[in-house]
Amino acid sequence: MELQPLRNVRILEGYSAVVLGAPLYMFHWHKDAHHFLSQHRKILSGNLPVAIFAGGPFGEGDGNEWHEVRVKLDSELAKFPWLTPISIKIVGGKFDPSKLRFPYNLIPALKKMPASDLRDWAAIRAWASNLAAQFLSDLPQ
Ligand SMILES: Cc1cc2nc3c(=O)[nH]c(=O)nc-3n(C[C@H](O)[C@H](O)[C@H](O)COP(=O)(O)O)c2cc1C
Repeated sequence: MELQPLRNVRILEGYSAVVLGAPLYMFHWHKDAHHFLSQHRKILSGNLPVAIFAGGPFGEGDGNEWHEVRVKLDSELAKFPWLTPISIKIVGGKFDPSKLRFPYNLIPALKKMPASDLRDWAAIRAWASNLAAQFLSDLPQ
């Protein structure tokens, strides 16, 4: 298994599966995920199985934000109709206003938000440990 930032990946030939993860930023899936999918469309629309996770939500919400993140992610994935992920997971976000970088550190509403870590590691581990079996069952017979 190899772990790489999305933007560093040049070729996917030789791999048997891809797990792609990226956070939601300002109501959009991170641009690196969009670039990655566009760049590797040919192989990802073929026999290489893909699982997807997204970071978000963050802060103290009304309880509906997990669903909203999923709806948002689905609308982003609809831009790639050729992609059929074997699994999609919202993992929760970790947010620290003291670590905001430009230009986000200029947005008062973000700077005022409390730090939060909504990642549910038990659920994330359960999802991840099930992936290998799902990838295997997805292989062409
Ligand atoms: C500037 C900024 C904007 C964000 N916007 C959203 C958002 O629109 N929806 C959401 O669910 N989470 C949002 N988040 C939460 C991120 O998805 C979450 O913090 C994620 O864990 C960030 O991953 P990173 O630490 O790898 O950047 C935002 C976080 C930051 C820092």
